[in-house]
Amino acid sequence: EKGTYPHYMLKEIDEQPLVMRKIIQTYQNEQGELTIAPEIINAMNDSDRVYIIAAGTSYHAGLVGKQFIEKIAKIPVEVHVASEFGYNMPLLSDKPLFIFISQSGETADSRAVLVSVKELGHRTLTITNVPGSTLSREADYTLLLHAGPEIAVASTKAYTAQLAVLSILAEVTAKSRNYTLGFDLVHELGIVANAMEVLCDSKELIEHISREFLSVTRNAFFIGRSVDHYVGLEGALKLKEISYIQAEGFAGGELKHGTIALIEEGTPIIALATQESVNLSIRGNVKEVVARGANPCIISMKGLEMDEDSFVIPEVHELLTPLISVIPMQLIAYYAALHRDCDVDKPRNLAKSVTVE
Ligand code: M6R
Repeated sequence: EKGTYPHYMLKEIDEQPLVMRKIIQTYQNEQGELTIAPEIINAMNDSDRVYIIAAGTSYHAGLVGKQFIEKIAKIPVEVHVASEFGYNMPLLSDKPLFIFISQSGETADSRAVLVSVKELGHRTLTITNVPGSTLSREADYTLLLHAGPEIAVASTKAYTAQLAVLSILAEVTAKSRNYTLGFDLVHELGIVANAMEVLCDSKELIEHISREFLSVTRNAFFIGRSVDHYVGLEGALKLKEISYIQAEGFAGGELKHGTIALIEEGTPIIALATQESVNLSIRGNVKEVVARGANPCIISMKGLEMDEDSFVIPEVHELLTPLISVIPMQLIAYYAALHRDCDVDKPRNLAKSVTVE
């Protein structure tokens, strides 16, 4: 039930700090250490390459998940859009592990890949919010998101839950290999949960930003570098699916290779700057588009902020910034849809779970 909330989407955005705490709690053992079923960790350790298969928002979570698994557990990862995987199946490694990320656990495109890789005898793990869902039943192993039912068509809390579970999977695998991590994930995810709360309390400011940048425009661009690029892709998907504003996410460095031709007087550019290593280069991209008339909305992280920024998110561990920076993306899209009188929870032409290929 959505209770006093006008829309499920807003309720689900607000639930993110709670979901984060639930995940930390559920994946902890009595000693307070993160834990995952040993057979899943064995499957990670037995594999020489992980293939993440997903669609839409879950695919965007996979792009960030690849960074977690490669940087923390040091296993190479490929991320594939489920519907494309079958056409040009990559040359598989000797011991592949397939991870299916799906909120609903019912996405037909992902299931088609699951069926075909099982026929080839490969191991499969589903990360889903729905126990007993098709992808969960048919895979060898399942990890649950514990996000509670997600009703709004636009996926929000499932995305951050997917990232949290993927980071835990990476961490537990790394620990089983005796890698030194240099950070305590339980502690860092706790900081993430607190930061999420701060963001959920910043709705007025974000509504104002959404009105300022998106109330009249027909299009919008999201730019970022490194993981910020992946969050930009998710921001663009959220905005287009519920507000019908044509939105695209681009890597900051790709602008000059074509997209910059689309910049006109007043074109909104939402730029993410949460990574110290690329802070100056993304700001260079912002200057390039501003010189062509763009209207820049810079969302940065505390410690990296500059005077011209529209919104500053609280500081979290640099690997975990997507769990935080996505929240202003979700809220900007929500208010843009609201201001345009769109049906926020049930956008046209879309279904919550896509059970046809
Ligand atoms: O249930 P799934 O995670 O497999 O769904 C995948 C996509 O259909 C889904 O993420 C879709 O892109 C959402 N509407 C995005 O908000």
